[in-house]
Amino acid sequence: MRDPNTRRRLVATIAQFLIVISLFYAALHEEERMQYAQMGVHAQSIERGADLYLDHCAMCHGLDGLGLEGKAPALNNPLLFGHDFFPEVTEQIRDLNHEKSRLIDERNQENMTDIRRSEIDTRIAEIEVSIDDLNVKRSADVQMAVDKGYDPVIFNRIWQLDWNGTLESLLLTTLIHGRPNSSSYWPSAMPAYSQEAFADFMLERYQLEDLTAYMMNWDKGDSWTLEDLYAVKQFPIQAEDPKPYTAQIQLLIMSNDTIPQSVGTDIEAITAALAQLTGDAARGEALYLGQVKSNLGYNLPCTGCHQASVDAVGPMTDGTYSRVINERLKEPQFAGYTPEQYLIESIVLPGNHVVEGFQNAMITNSGEALTTQDLADIIAYLRTENP
Ligand code: HEC
Ligand code: HEC
Repeated sequence: MRDPNTRRRLVATIAQFLIVISLFYAALHEEERMQYAQMGVHAQSIERGADLYLDHCAMCHGLDGLGLEGKAPALNNPLLFGHDFFPEVTEQIRDLNHEKSRLIDERNQENMTDIRRSEIDTRIAEIEVSIDDLNVKRSADVQMAVDKGYDPVIFNRIWQLDWNGTLESLLLTTLIHGRPNSSSYWPSAMPAYSQEAFADFMLERYQLEDLTAYMMNWDKGDSWTLEDLYAVKQFPIQAEDPKPYTAQIQLLIMSNDTIPQSVGTDIEAITAALAQLTGDAARGEALYLGQVKSNLGYNLPCTGCHQASVDAVGPMTDGTYSRVINERLKEPQFAGYTPEQYLIESIVLPGNHVVEGFQNAMITNSGEALTTQDLADIIAYLRTENP
């Protein structure tokens, strides 16, 4: 074994052996291989998210995600991931609280003697003091962070926000909808990245997912240290008047934690999905006119190019439906099209067919901005001919 060559050969043989074993293993575990492939995709998503973060988020949340004082809270933050630095204390307090509620139950019984009642009261008072002591001690142990607004008693941001979904869904939803009310306690609010439909800082849904993957990747699980906690430059602050904010969160929760999906550009699939829905022409009109937001939070710019009764950048809105039936569908390339199919295609893939006399100028990302219901409503509106 002294001879380095022997040792090198041995190492090589062991390595080869391990490779063979692992290949075998991989062949046997097709499903796990798929998972590895998915991990690759996931890694790319995180990488793209990192680039987006630098461009769009770092100016408020800091390059390192540790927050910027007085500007925006840390995201690379054990609090956001709900890490408990004092699990034993949490456990002790939980036990004390259990004991307290058992005692309260007992005290409420009818056949209570005065002696036992006063014993119980004494014990409850003791318990309350113990809990306070534990909390004070726990806070003192992380004073540096407490001075910056950290509260070890509520060590999970999701509880602070009363959010009852996953952290991932909270992050993605925050990106989609922003926190419009947060400008009442921060210099500028957390923006909604799906809102300003065609403004510069609008991001596509997949980009928001990449950003979410990037943020989720900050989670250190059980490996968060107090150093990480102290490194945080700005903790979240609670709104002085949380009502509007709580209302907003409640709305998101009521939407059942499911984030509406965009309709996409698969004409056949959309046509089939629309056949299952009833469109609401009044809402469709409000959407078309930009008076209400789409279910994905967009204001639609349709009337920037389409006017009611004169051709502008795009064809006039009046009479769209009969024009489709009497003129467009007579063209040979639309053989077999229903008027609905034509409208769907005009809206989500406008470049497929450019109406004669017009430029191929229509916005192309409506498929990202609308849900199936939004599109059903708009088509119901266009069917009314806008008289
Ligand atoms: C103009 C400054 C600004 C920009 C730009 C900004 N944010 Fe925020 N963000 C905020 C503020 C302020 C809050 C705190 C909102 C609150 O208290 O509810 C916040 C909150 C958040 C939260 C919720 C954190 C929590 O603890 O509740 C997430 C997640 C988030 N931002 C991610 C991002 C990402 C990702 C980007 C880039 C795409 C971004 N932010 C861009 C200001 C900003
Ligand atoms: C930037 C300008 C622009 C915007 C914004 C725009 N369109 Fe258009 N639209 C056009 C142009 C130009 C055409 C004709 C050329 C073509 O077919 O692509 C057109 C064609 C159409 C047609 C086919 C009309 C016909 O007579 O065949 C429909 C339907 C339509 N647009 C709906 C919409 C809806 C709904 C919105 C909002 C989500 C919208 N457009 C936003 C420019 C625009």
